[in-house]
Amino acid sequence: MPQILFIHSSAFASEIRKENQGSYTRKMARILRETVRGRGVKIVERDVAAKPPGMIDQSFLQAARTPAARRTPDQIERLKESEELVSEVLASDVLVISCPVYNFGIPAPLKAWIDNIVREGKTYTFGEGRNAKRVYGLLHNKLVVLLQSSGSSGFQTGGSRETLNHADKAVIAVFTELGVHKFEKASMEGVCEESDETLERNWILCERRLAEIADRIKVRWRDLHRA
Ligand SMILES: Cc1cc2nc3c(=O)[nH]c(=O)nc-3n(C[C@H](O)[C@H](O)[C@H](O)COP(=O)(O)O)c2cc1C
Repeated sequence: MPQILFIHSSAFASEIRKENQGSYTRKMARILRETVRGRGVKIVERDVAAKPPGMIDQSFLQAARTPAARRTPDQIERLKESEELVSEVLASDVLVISCPVYNFGIPAPLKAWIDNIVREGKTYTFGEGRNAKRVYGLLHNKLVVLLQSSGSSGFQTGGSRETLNHADKAVIAVFTELGVHKFEKASMEGVCEESDETLERNWILCERRLAEIADRIKVRWRDLHRA
């Protein structure tokens, strides 16, 4: 059964309804979820804004770098949340990551989630011999879908603020390092600065893109089922 994992990270707990009260990325996630759900699809939702993962610290890193068989009970406990988050990622075929632009980057709870799932021996490993310092991602054959929303416009490729986009680019960089080769993205730009007409147009384009992504996911699952 294919599993799709939704990571919500908007500080707004519910989706946008009127005038910047509510989240666009939650609305985008809901539309995608409703379009891809069906028999034989397992949907898992993780709201890192509602329940932020713990920040990593020295005790986390020491525990993670201790071979599993030698970990103390405290170290096992320290890694418990990370293990749960990693398991969700490993069990999922598609990861849908909501990525609101906050201060030119991603929301802090999303960064904390990433720090918890980048784990040696789980989501990446090192090579051997001459390649002992080379990182090899272990998340092969997964699809990562980014749902981005921003207050200003111009963050997309070729846009006037492209170089200021440290949000989805950071997420893509991490997952590329972890071995993901397939990314899809839908974005809703200018929600704080554009006119109602422009926002209506942007939303139509965003919905179209979500429909395309949903189709690709369904084709992917049909192919997986056939293989
Ligand atoms: C704390 C905070 C910081 C933000 N920083 C930026 C920013 O740097 N650039 C920008 O274009 N929009 C910024 N915005 C606007 C959000 O990107 C925009 O409202 C987006 O829709 C958030 O995603 P959401 O609708 O899913 O919550 C910020 C919003 C908040 C709440």
